[in-house]
Amino acid sequence: MKKKSELKAKVLILNGPNLHLLGKREPGIYGSCTLDKLEKINRDKALKLGLDLEQFQTNSEGKIVDIITKTDYDFLIINPAAYTHTSVAIRDAILSVNKPALEIHISNIYKREDFRKTSLISDVVMGVISGLGTYGYLLALEAADSFLHEQKT
Ligand code: DQA
Repeated sequence: MKKKSELKAKVLILNGPNLHLLGKREPGIYGSCTLDKLEKINRDKALKLGLDLEQFQTNSEGKIVDIITKTDYDFLIINPAAYTHTSVAIRDAILSVNKPALEIHISNIYKREDFRKTSLISDVVMGVISGLGTYGYLLALEAADSFLHEQKT
């Protein structure tokens, strides 16, 4: 049996509403990469980094709360999509689990409509990546890896 220190750290990537339409949805804003392709790129990156990775996409706010609070993981990378701007429930879920988390957006939410400039979770996560397209997910995985390594040493 593996000792706890030899177990891989587990990262959870959680994508919110309408992100199942990546590649088809407003490609001028969100790009041409589909969710399937993005999840594969993320899996390959996690493999290279030696991280365990679980990925979910859901259109339902309650499911996001369930996944945040009921799944076992060490680090959360979350794109709450439209719920970023409205969901006290997702903010409360992040606060309840008290785990390191990063917020990510494909587009730069500060360059768009005013209602997107407010995030209800930015002040309860470690940091935010916004506007770097799907490449942001790779940076988020690297940041998670570096944080989890620092924690171990
Ligand atoms: C998004 C930005 C949100 O404002 C929007 O509702 C989304 C996607 C992004 O990744 O850029 O659905 O989170």
